[in-house]
Order: sequence, then structure tokens, then C-alpha cells
Amino acid sequence: MTEKQPRVFPPDFLWGSATASYQIEGAAREDGRTPSIWDTFSRTPGKVHAGDTGDVACDHYHRWQEDVGLMAELGLAAYRFSVSWSRVQPTGRGPAVQRGLDFYRALADGLLERGITPAITLYHWDLPQDLEDSGGWPERETAERFAEYAQIVGEALGDRVAMWTTLNEPFCSAFLGYGSGVHAPGRTEPESVLKAAHHLNLAHGLGVQALRAALPRNAEIGVTLNPVVARPRTDAPADVDAARRIDALQTRIFSGPLLHGSYPEDLRQDTARVSDWSFLRAGDEAAIHQPLDFLGLNYYQPSVVSAPTGGSQAKRNDGHGSGTHSPWVGSEDVEFHLAPGERTDMGWVVDPTGLYELLQRFHSELPNLPLYITENGAAFDDKMDAAGVVHDPERISYLHGHLDAVHRSIEQGVDIRGYFLWSLLDNFEWAYGYSKRFGVVHVDFDTLRRTPKASARWYAGVVGSGRLPA
Ligand code: NOJ
Repeated sequence: MTEKQPRVFPPDFLWGSATASYQIEGAAREDGRTPSIWDTFSRTPGKVHAGDTGDVACDHYHRWQEDVGLMAELGLAAYRFSVSWSRVQPTGRGPAVQRGLDFYRALADGLLERGITPAITLYHWDLPQDLEDSGGWPERETAERFAEYAQIVGEALGDRVAMWTTLNEPFCSAFLGYGSGVHAPGRTEPESVLKAAHHLNLAHGLGVQALRAALPRNAEIGVTLNPVVARPRTDAPADVDAARRIDALQTRIFSGPLLHGSYPEDLRQDTARVSDWSFLRAGDEAAIHQPLDFLGLNYYQPSVVSAPTGGSQAKRNDGHGSGTHSPWVGSEDVEFHLAPGERTDMGWVVDPTGLYELLQRFHSELPNLPLYITENGAAFDDKMDAAGVVHDPERISYLHGHLDAVHRSIEQGVDIRGYFLWSLLDNFEWAYGYSKRFGVVHVDFDTLRRTPKASARWYAGVVGSGRLPA
């Protein structure tokens, strides 16, 4: 194949975009919704850039019809969104709030009317505050409550939503939420990290069982992970071992039990000084290891890691491979380094070869499990010009490079079913607040006006033709 030919994607390849409830919905106190851990965290001074909160966000709760219209205009075939747990089950326990469920039903119907496939994520980080007050993810009960929540949403939307994901990036929930504390609930407790990771895994397993019982047989159920693509800085054994350790701690702690039925032995050994793993009960690994219809992968950049160098440029891991510390307190035995090359506004390096490697890895680990890229995209400091146009050539180039990696993987026989661009809209980028813009649609956070960027038009062209231009 020459470089100049357009890459043609399979005709049934699912082209979509993705968002998450707390990042776009707003309406934080409406229709019975109660605070999630992100409402609390964003109100805690110093935790989120400029004191930003998701109170209004993109006001998608009130403007969803306009947003669905935008997706239709772009010709998108699918939309990945998450359900706010505390909107449908305010205390995380007990009966559901009908108005909360009605919102997601109307959204799903609006998408279906436009021929857009809805893809639900049940948990994208916004735990009801009440459950955190009872201990949060380090408590086993949270996994049990999640299964009930999964059943409620499954029963309410199973007739119209065919694609389901239990958790989004459980690594971030556990390690950034309870380890480094840079995400809600902001706790820094080494042993709680492992407990949280295990209970997230268990929540997935129990949640899949609840969904299987609640959903029609043809529904597809999966999970979304953000595996580290760890590259040792040198081929010195200590650096290679650092890559192994971080892979155990960030990737295999989830993919082990979720996809292969057990926690990796090396992870158990590496973490023995922090925990005796007594939270792991007989039968848990079997409960977690549920047959899945697909695996969702989120990818932004690879990570360059080494054994500790005693250097001073250490930064915390942000969940997508930046920073030079291990992602939890008490285990500063892996350093992250800045890879050379072009960077996004997050400081993340632009390197599509990492996506290619990630896809190859999971294909060889599980050749029969279909893959979706459930997130990929980039933040840039986009500006609207005097004519009201947002030119974002860097984002187009980022997307082009990564879609090319997806296409190459498909050519190599990797079973990739679709691609969800992160994100449809500029939105609340967690601890960065509104300071980072990932959208292909620009949002003016004063007026809430939406303006498709040049990248949106470009993506529409790819989606419409099923071809990536040369
Ligand atoms: C992953 C998360 O799932 C999403 O919520 C976040 O905005 C993007 N990465 C970008 O950081």
C-alpha cells in the first residue's frame, strides 16, 4: 500500500463520539438528582481548576435535542454517553427516580429517531455522595449497590439501548480517586486503592450478571479500560521491570480478573507490602470473570517509564500516562518521563503507534473479543476567530494519525468494530475544569452556544465516506 491512498474502513464500522454525564449535563440539582462525589470534590477549594464545577457544564440536560441534532448533522452513527447514578437513584440505594430515567429514555429515543445507536456507560466516575459517605469503592457494599443500579437502568432502557458498558476507566476511579487524590473523592490511602480496584471489578461482574438478566438477549455488554502503554526508558532490566510493574498496577489489575479470571501473581507480590489482599474472597474472581461481548479501549498517549532515578521532575500520573510518579501514594517505584515529540494542550505526546500496539496487544490476548475504541481525541487551546470559525488543524492531524493506526490494525486482522471520538463537546475536564477543550464542537461556556470546529466537519467527512483521506 502506498502512503497516498485513502484508507477504506469496513462498511459496518461504527463511527461515534463520546461524552459523560458529569462532564456535560449540568442541572445538578434538578428532578431529584443529588450530589455525586464530583459535586462535592469540585466544591472543595483547590481541587478543580478555577473552582469550576459541573453545575451547568454544557447544560446538555436541557439542550440534548440540539446536541442530538448536531450529531445527526455530523452523520454520526453512534453516541456513547453515561448515566448519572445519583440522577436515577439519588442515594445510590432503593427506588429509582422516574424523572431521571425518563431523561435517558428520551435521549435514547431522540438518538434512535435520528438513526444514531445509543451506547450507555453505567459508571463514568460520578458515585452518589451517599455511597461515598458509607465508605465508597473501598467498601464491598458499593459493588452490590452498583449491581442493583445496573438492573434498574437495564430494565428501564433495555428495550431501546443495545450497547452497554459497565465501567469507564476503573483505573482512574481507584487510583486517582483513592490513591493520588487528584480525582474525587480525593482520598490518598494506599490500601484503599487496591480495595477500590477490587470492588470496581466486582461491581462490573455483578453488574454484568444483573444486565444479562435485565436486557434482551441481543444486547452487547462490555467494559472500558485505559490500559497503560508502558515503554521502558532504556532496556536496562530495572527499567523493563518498572514497565512490568506499572502494567500490572494500571492494566492487568483490571484485565486480569475481568478478562482472564484472576489477578496476576506479580501484582499480588508487588503490592504485598501495602495489603494482604484479605478483601479478595473465594468466588470473587469467578464472579468478576463474566463473558463479554466487547472490550472498550480508551487511548490518548503512551508512557515512558523507568525505575526511580531520584530526579526532581516527578509528577503524578494523571491516568493517561503523564507524570513521573506511580499513581498511588506509598509506591513511588516507577517514574514516568516526558516522551519527546509534539504535545496536546494536556501535555500529552501525540503518538498513534501506542494505539496500534494497544490494539495488537488485546487482539493477541483475546483474539475472539471484538474491540471498540471507546475514547480517543485531543485537547487544544482552540480559539474562535472573528468570523466565528474555530480552526483546529492539530486536532485533525491527531485524529488522522490515530485513525490511520486503527485502520492499520484492522488490516492486520484485529477485530475493531468502532471508534468513539472524545469528545463531541468541549466539557468539564475533571480537575482541569473548563480549561481544556476536547470537543469537535466548541462550547462557549458563557452563552452555551455550540459551534462545530473544523475538526467536526473533517470527522463528518470521514464518517460519511467511511474513508480516511490520504
Ligand atoms: C478519559 C475519561 O474517560 C474522560 O472522562 C476524560 O475527559 C478524557 N479521558 C480526557 O482526559
